[in-house]
Amino acid sequence: MNQATPSWRAELHALTQDWLQRIALAADLAGLRELEVASVGKKGDVTALMRRVGTLPPEERRDYGAAAGDVRTQVDQALADRKTALEQAILDAELADDTFDETVPGLLPKRGHPHPLSLVQAEIESVFSSMGFHVLDYPEVESEFDNFEALNIPSWHPARDMQDTFWLQDGHLLRTHTSSGQVRAMQTFAPPFRAVFPGKVYRYEATDASHEHTFHQVEGLLVDRHVSVAHLLDSMRTLLSAILKTDVTVRLRPGYFPFVEPGFELDIQCRVCGGKGCSVCKQSGWLELLPCGLVHPHVLRAGGLDPEEWQGWAFGLGLSRLVMMRFGVPDVRLLLSGDTRFLTQF
Ligand code: DAH
Repeated sequence: MNQATPSWRAELHALTQDWLQRIALAADLAGLRELEVASVGKKGDVTALMRRVGTLPPEERRDYGAAAGDVRTQVDQALADRKTALEQAILDAELADDTFDETVPGLLPKRGHPHPLSLVQAEIESVFSSMGFHVLDYPEVESEFDNFEALNIPSWHPARDMQDTFWLQDGHLLRTHTSSGQVRAMQTFAPPFRAVFPGKVYRYEATDASHEHTFHQVEGLLVDRHVSVAHLLDSMRTLLSAILKTDVTVRLRPGYFPFVEPGFELDIQCRVCGGKGCSVCKQSGWLELLPCGLVHPHVLRAGGLDPEEWQGWAFGLGLSRLVMMRFGVPDVRLLLSGDTRFLTQF
């Protein structure tokens, strides 16, 4: 058998030496990357070696394959070694540079923070959940039934004019108040239950400093046996004292809403003047805070409850207004403006 060294051995050896030398001399990472592509890349020299197996006499193929694989291993190793060396050199140079102080703390990336509406909403939710209320999330796109009919506001009712509505083409609407969740809640939970449902509401109306087409409310609903105005008044005083973090004095004035009977406007005694009268409360000693009332029998029935057995109270808290009072925000339109000059203050 012919033991003579096949001609390709010398060729592979020369090729390997050539690549090892070029790689060792690569001046930077970009240059090294080019060498990598030219050697072991898809169309590289070293990659091409493997494809030559088929052109050799069958008895040489095994040895050739092993030798070509060995070339590949050596070149890969050389590339990896050179890369490590170049990266280390870069690091050494940075550390040797006396204008580079590795003890200076890095720049903290800017982090976001909760929107003032979210801050106050979270506080309110935690007060209510600590008192056994479910916190519910109801749809913003609602049926006419849930937003109006079930709440004792039929289409001919003048109260519809109080809440100009964004209608969708399929007859649904953007909820005009969070009260739209009341009947849903009654249909979902077996009484007695208590729940709050915060969220965005929409009104088709012109905007100014105190009106916005999109704003936030928190609805509260309690259903139980023997619910009375005294119960409502005391619950409101307790809840509002917890939310406002101070003992509040409340009073009720009659207010009209078709879904409550009787309905009220609830005022709290002005905390700036203690009830004596000042510019904040317009000399009245009281601040209007929220509407509320005892759930109308018609609404209980729409929710599948027997008004002879079950009663309830409900309130609608203007979350946007509460945030404005809390932080002294002069214009409701700032809240959803997305203006970072405003938002970064919180
Ligand atoms: N949904 C009413 C509105 O947006 C507010 C309201 C009034 C809610 C009385 C209630 C309530 O739950 O009892 O104008």
